[in-house]
Amino acid sequence: MANIEEEWLAFAKQLAVSAGEMMVEARDASAFVRDYKMDHELVTSTDIAVDQFICSRIEARYPSHRILSEESSPTMSLSSIADDVPVWVIDPIDGTVNFAHGHHHVAVSIGVYVAQRRVLGVVHAPFLNECFWALSGAGAYCNDQPLSVSEENTLRNAVVATGFPYQKTALVPIIERVSRILHHCQDIRRNGSAALDLCWVAAGRLDAYFESVKPWDMAAGTLIAEEAGARVGHYLPRGTLWPEVVNGDGLLVSTPDLFDDVMALMNAPA
Ligand code: IPD
Ligand code: CA
Ligand code: CA
Repeated sequence: MANIEEEWLAFAKQLAVSAGEMMVEARDASAFVRDYKMDHELVTSTDIAVDQFICSRIEARYPSHRILSEESSPTMSLSSIADDVPVWVIDPIDGTVNFAHGHHHVAVSIGVYVAQRRVLGVVHAPFLNECFWALSGAGAYCNDQPLSVSEENTLRNAVVATGFPYQKTALVPIIERVSRILHHCQDIRRNGSAALDLCWVAAGRLDAYFESVKPWDMAAGTLIAEEAGARVGHYLPRGTLWPEVVNGDGLLVSTPDLFDDVMALMNAPA
C-alpha cells in the first residue's frame, strides 16, 4: 500500500503547487470576482477555478476514487462509499477572505482518506512559499523539513488559534469559549485559514487550535498535526453527517500536554 500512497502524495503535491500558482496569478492580476454563497459566505471565481482544476485532474487520473470538494461536491454523501475506495477531500482556497483582501495566509488543502484512516494531507501556502504534508505513519513535513509540535505544557504560556463561522447566528457560545481560553492562555490568534492553523500547531508555532469546521478545512491539516505529535479530539458531540476521520465538529488539536486543560475550559460552565 505504501507505494501507491506515496504516488497519491506526489500527485497531491503537484496539484497543490499548480493550484497555488493559479492563486498567485489571479491575485497579482486582480483577475477574480467575488460572489456570496447563501448570501453571506464569500467565494471568488478563483475558488471555483482551482476547485475545477483539482477535481478534473483527480477524476482523470483516478476515475474509481471519490471526491468531496467544497465548491463542487459539498453535499456528497460519504456514508455509502465502500471501505476500499479512496476519498479525496479538497478545499481549493482555505482563507478565501484573506485571499480576497490581499493577505498572505491562504492555502490549498488536499487530504485523502480510506475507510476510517487518514492517509495523506497536503496544505500548500503559495504566498508564504510553504508546503506542509504528511503521510500516515511517516511523519509531517514543511518544505521537506520534519515537523514536531511545541513542548509547551503550561496553558498560561500558550498561543491558541481559533476561527469564526460565516454564519453569525451561532456566535454567542463561540465567543464565550474564546473568552474562557483568553483568560487562561498567553494570547489568541485568528489567522483565517483552518488548514494552516492545524499545520502551525504541527510546526510548533501555535500550541492549540479549536473550531467547528467542515471536512475540507481539516482533512489534510489534522493528519499533518497528528503526524507531528498533536493530540486530536472534539469538544462538542459530533453530528452524523460526516465520517469520523473528516468530522470537524468541535475540533480541538493541541500539544499532548495542553489537551486536557483546553478541553476542560471548552466544556466549563459559562
Ligand atoms: C474558512 C477558514 C477560516 C475558518 C472558517 C472556514 P474558507 O474556510 O478556514 O479560518 O475560521 O471556519 O470556513 O471559507 O476560507 O475556505
Ligand atoms: Ca476552508
Ligand atoms: Ca474554501
